Amino acid sequence: MKTVLITGCSSGFGLEIARYFLDRDWRVIATMRAPRKDLLPRSDRLSILALDVKDPQSIRAVIDAAGRIDVLVNNAGIGFLNALEGTPMDTVRDIFETNTLGTIAMAQAVLPQFRERREGVIINVTSTVTCRPLHLLSVYTASKSAVNAFSESLALELEQFNVRVRVVLPGRAPSTRFGENAQARMKDGFAEPYGALVEQIFANWQKETAVTHASDVAEAVWLAATDSSSPFNIPAGEDAVEWYNAAAK
Ligand SMILES: NC(=O)c1ccc[n+]([C@@H]2O[C@H](COP(=O)([O-])OP(=O)(O)OC[C@H]3O[C@@H](n4cnc5c(N)ncnc54)[C@H](OP(=O)(O)O)[C@@H]3O)[C@@H](O)[C@H]2O)c1
Repeated sequence: MKTVLITGCSSGFGLEIARYFLDRDWRVIATMRAPRKDLLPRSDRLSILALDVKDPQSIRAVIDAAGRIDVLVNNAGIGFLNALEGTPMDTVRDIFETNTLGTIAMAQAVLPQFRERREGVIINVTSTVTCRPLHLLSVYTASKSAVNAFSESLALELEQFNVRVRVVLPGRAPSTRFGENAQARMKDGFAEPYGALVEQIFANWQKETAVTHASDVAEAVWLAATDSSSPFNIPAGEDAVEWYNAAAK
């Protein structure tokens, strides 16, 4: 039986990915900053473990407790929307520590066992915001673009050990807690000189109808985990596929 360890399973994509793999008879290690046992169906194939990807001790403890892992899904992430002038450096650090360094630290933590066994898959969830420049998203996009670039180089050095790396790029998913979680970080409001721009951006979003659903992301992660011929980059969601294909032209 194969085992997947997923970060950030308290809501959104991570929770759905955990459900998806459980339904397909995998052993699932669903990790959360604040573990909750009421979110997923009871199963003897499910372990719920505490993990904060910003905390090295927490990473060590989860790897020790997890035992054998076949697939790591780096899903945990935080969002933020503002002009750079309205983005405190503490927030910049928080975004990079979670989205970028957290992903790198988790990959580093599973690698010894993947390399020794000559198998394993690392799946990094980034975003289609990395496919084209967007207003008010410079820091978030930078944190995710860094993961794209990291993943490409990592894949090369791990080929010799039969360890695969894949990147899943979701589009905009209003149904997860991502926006709400990001808003809590945006309590100081938008930088005043950018007010007109912010209004314009929000008005444009209202017009967009294609979105990404958590199930799209779970399917893309499943493909990445189970199909060794899957593409390196896998856009997830109707809008994501559109954006990704447009950028590839
Ligand atoms: N929703 C979108 O529009 C969208 C689009 C493209 C990409 N993404 C990416 O998809 C991933 C999942 O997002 P989502 O939409 O499912 O958002 P979500 O509902 O907010 O879920 C994010 C998860 O990450 C966890 N997390 C945050 N900081 C963490 C840390 N330091 N250590 C461990 N876990 C942490 C959260 O846990 P807590 O409950 O403890 O905060 C939560 O479980 C993120 O990487 C995000 O950047 C989202």
